[in-house]
Amino acid sequence: MTVKQKKCSLEDLRILQEISIETFSDTFKDQNSPENMNAYLEKTFNFKQLEKELSNAYSEFYFIFFNEEIAGYLKVNMNDAQSEQMGTELLEIERIYVRSQYQRKGLGKYLFNTAMEVAISQNKQLVWLGVWEKNANAIEFYTKLGFVQTGVHSFYMGDEEQFDYIMTKTLR
Ligand SMILES: CC(C)(COP(=O)(O)OP(=O)(O)OC[C@H]1O[C@@H](n2cnc3c(N)ncnc32)[C@H](O)[C@@H]1OP(=O)(O)O)[C@@H](O)C(=O)NCCC(=O)NCCS
Repeated sequence: MTVKQKKCSLEDLRILQEISIETFSDTFKDQNSPENMNAYLEKTFNFKQLEKELSNAYSEFYFIFFNEEIAGYLKVNMNDAQSEQMGTELLEIERIYVRSQYQRKGLGKYLFNTAMEVAISQNKQLVWLGVWEKNANAIEFYTKLGFVQTGVHSFYMGDEEQFDYIMTKTLR
């Protein structure tokens, strides 16, 4: 078994789009209407939007490979790339997604460790994320990694208002 990681660049745009759509759909399609899912997928993972995010100096994407196959990805944000203006001392884990057939093999934790390494190297004080209140698996995963719930914020999935728990972990 080999696990490798790679920081993404603009030339990874096509694969990033594919894995983003696949993993988001697999995670949320059973709990959301097709209309709301499609609206969200089109808005969030269109080529132009992902290109913009990949070009942002304060966002970093990483792919993880399991036995040479792409198995998941990570997106972290700093400074004004964060989806809430939390300031320069925080790092946001915006996305950790592992393809369903590769889950529970330690890859999510591997991606999380990468996020922690970025946070430490950038002298951040705190790591935070938003997780859908109904995503029980991810909440269990983050709790196991030492995150605690510190707030709630709302967002729109298509025309439906939904709620994310804000979870944080201090670095020092
Ligand atoms: C959540 C997710 C990233 C976890 O990644 P993973 O590779 O399956 O998790 P790992 O194998 O690295 O597990 C790390 C630890 O969390 C625990 N864990 C993972 N999923 C868990 C679950 N559903 N319930 C309880 N514990 C869980 C593991 O047991 C492991 O604990 P250990 O270190 O004590 O052995 C992955 O399941 C996923 O991509 N889910 C779909 C997308 C998603 O919801 N992403 C988060 C959006 S905010």
